[in-house]
Amino acid sequence: MTIVAADADGLRRAVEVLRRESVVAFPTETVYGLGANAFSAKAVAEIYRLKNRPSWNPLIVHVATVEQARALARHWPAAADELAARFWPGPLTLVVPRLIAPGADHHEAAADTIALRIPAHPVALQLLEASGLALAAPSANRSESISPTTAQHVLRSLPDVPLVLDGGPASFGIESTVLDLSSARPRLLRPGALGLRELRDVIGPIELPEAEVTDGTARHSPGMSRRHYAPRAKLILAKDTADVQRADLDPPIAVLTYEGQGPGDEVLSAEPREYAADLYAALHRLDDAGVATILVQQPPETEEWLAVRDRLGRAAATA
Ligand code: TXA
Ligand code: MG
Repeated sequence: MTIVAADADGLRRAVEVLRRESVVAFPTETVYGLGANAFSAKAVAEIYRLKNRPSWNPLIVHVATVEQARALARHWPAAADELAARFWPGPLTLVVPRLIAPGADHHEAAADTIALRIPAHPVALQLLEASGLALAAPSANRSESISPTTAQHVLRSLPDVPLVLDGGPASFGIESTVLDLSSARPRLLRPGALGLRELRDVIGPIELPEAEVTDGTARHSPGMSRRHYAPRAKLILAKDTADVQRADLDPPIAVLTYEGQGPGDEVLSAEPREYAADLYAALHRLDDAGVATILVQQPPETEEWLAVRDRLGRAAATA
């Protein structure tokens, strides 16, 4: 594994690796992705192997232009046009009926659709353009663990990745919002970096995901299994961290709060976007410090905090 600067030479090496049908980790504005030629069965299989990702969980395909995205769709809804015009490049993934299936036979669960996104990070765009490929790219971490927001996080989670392009820390720090446009009513599959309000301003009402999806049952967004985004340490959510009986918890214990919510070992911003940008890095840091329990102050129940609450809830789930 090598981390290389995302300069002309780094990009050239990355393109070579992709053309050899292998994988490259690269920065996006949300989290680092583990990219491969979306239409090479061999390259896509390598993503699943390295991540230890279950085969029922399909991948987002990243493209450089709206034309490329449309060319992969069997049907390109009017809402997709409006959203793409407003938010691409950016942290929004659109699920539409597909014309071509990415990878090999990995996508039973998403039989008829494809998830598409144009990322906004300049290095991601340069890689897409220089390679001329559509890149399947999940977050560059082992399945179920915390997404990487730096090149070093990738290195620690996936030491066998041949090449990581270093583009500095990801600015959003939380995954893209995934919106399903494949049926009559737009439906949120994964809350993420782009807020619901921004989406509604463009396309009107959006159906929200069911409160709880249990592994093994039918899923709309196959990747949204209950436990996900989890640190090694046990994560416990509490309305008031001061109320929790410390004697019942495994030491060492760290406390993660946000401004105005009492003292913590890690205090994040009280502004949801800034909180999201720092959350994964804080969890990585606490894991590296050898903490056994992370006691997390539950963020407010408002829509602005939806994506953060979703990730914390999954990180805290035990099965
Ligand atoms: O921000 C992001 O979206 C990052 C960067 C690298 O782009 N990628 C990412 O990918 O988070 P991943 O694989 O970790 O999450 C993709 C999510 C999963 O929940 C997956 O099940 C869902 O998108 N997904 C992919 N294709 C789908 C499809 N055809 N239908 C429904 N859900 C789909
Ligand atoms: Mg992921």
